[in-house]
Amino acid sequence: MSIWKKKSLTLLLAEASESEKGLKRTLTAWSLVALGIGAIIGAGLFVRTATAAAQNAGPSVTIGFIVAAIGCALAGLCYAELSSSIPISGSAYTYTYATMGELLAWIIGWDLILEYAVGAATVGIAWSEYLNNLLVNVFHTSPIPFEWSHSPFQTSADGVSGIINLPALFIVAAISLLLIKGTQESAFVNGIIVVVKVAIVVMIIAFGWNFINPANHTPYIPETSVFVDEHGVGHKFGGIMGILGAAGTVFFAFIGFDAVSTAAQETKNPKRDMPIGILGSLAVCTVLYILFAHVLTGLENVEFFRTGGKEASVANAITSAMGTDYAWLAQFVTVAILAGFSSVILVMLLGQSRVFYSMGKDGLLPKAFGDLHSKYKTPYKANLVILVIVGLFAAFVPGDIVGDMTSIGTLFAFILVCISVIVLRKTNPEMKREFKTPFVPLVPILGVGVCLAMIYGLGWTNWLRLIGWLVIGLAIYFLYGKKNSVLNNPDKE
Ligand code: ALA
Repeated sequence: MSIWKKKSLTLLLAEASESEKGLKRTLTAWSLVALGIGAIIGAGLFVRTATAAAQNAGPSVTIGFIVAAIGCALAGLCYAELSSSIPISGSAYTYTYATMGELLAWIIGWDLILEYAVGAATVGIAWSEYLNNLLVNVFHTSPIPFEWSHSPFQTSADGVSGIINLPALFIVAAISLLLIKGTQESAFVNGIIVVVKVAIVVMIIAFGWNFINPANHTPYIPETSVFVDEHGVGHKFGGIMGILGAAGTVFFAFIGFDAVSTAAQETKNPKRDMPIGILGSLAVCTVLYILFAHVLTGLENVEFFRTGGKEASVANAITSAMGTDYAWLAQFVTVAILAGFSSVILVMLLGQSRVFYSMGKDGLLPKAFGDLHSKYKTPYKANLVILVIVGLFAAFVPGDIVGDMTSIGTLFAFILVCISVIVLRKTNPEMKREFKTPFVPLVPILGVGVCLAMIYGLGWTNWLRLIGWLVIGLAIYFLYGKKNSVLNNPDKE
């Protein structure tokens, strides 16, 4: 039994062609770009931008977006090569299994739980913030009481402690059930939401531009200081470290373009459509984000985003800076954001279930995770387990903590993907690559460097959380996965 044993590419591709038994191939290039934008624009933009401005960088959060986009583009080029040559469900997990062996594949699969499952919980929590905003500012009723819409680790300005975040739990459960019914229907609904989501970002940029107060942009890069948040954690504010910290935080806003690659097995022509899906959605979003962050930080100052405008920050900033004439915009944004967040949660849960599906088939997780529903052809058992895991995070952990855990976990996954490209070029030079990452090894090495810089910016509390998570994962591998993996135990098949 070897922890370094690799899945051969021939075996992987043979598994993929068993499509009669497997998932249905229904997605096209356009549905992939839509799936990508559906996953990408979400809580990262509408919630984490204000957090990064408040905690790390003030207006220079825009530069943080540029750093994060560069990291994503470099890693995206690596994702595109791998997903066009290994068009199989499971994303980075599958690529690593083929290139770096079982132990590292397990580590990445475990790490992807941070990206997809914990990420879905983060967006669920953000959904809960905007639901309260909807109740108060659109329906003019009372909000869901603080204790029922916040985690036990949060306390309101007037001293009320949270108990459980029920709305976050609700949305995660509802979308998990929708996913069990099938991705084709879900992709259709997603297409409509994507259009609305892009429309509101454009509207905020266009209408908000005239309300930018230059005083809020001065100085653009604040002087260095330390900001201590409500959990007592210090953040380096201002200067280069502030920008790197902001990049790590808003990096969350880009997460999702790689989720496109997890749907490879359901794509009609993966070799052509995957690179278009991944890089196309990334490009559209980058431009929108930089403009959006410039407007948002121009509407209100850092103090606003640390206090009264902390939750549902975008709608609050519009109301406070643009006045009653634009109340309609704040209301429209709130409704659209609620729909938009739902589509993000959908794609993240989809990505997570496909990773669990692949790991179940490989025996690294119980076989039941690889079972498909007889009628809907979806990995429904995996979906149900994910519902429980994501639900627990959404209900009981604060959004800032799960948000940063998602960022750091994903950055780590990106680093392994970049390294995989270099390794695979050496070990399988003959493999057919429909899309080739340019300038290898320069691009992957730069990708690793920029992602490491963002991990550095996220600070030691997050490094410790990542290390703790990986240690738990290793324990599970040595107690379960290593003994049950199909590759290591061919007689068990
Ligand atoms: N990029 C996704 C979001 O911002 C995860 O919500």
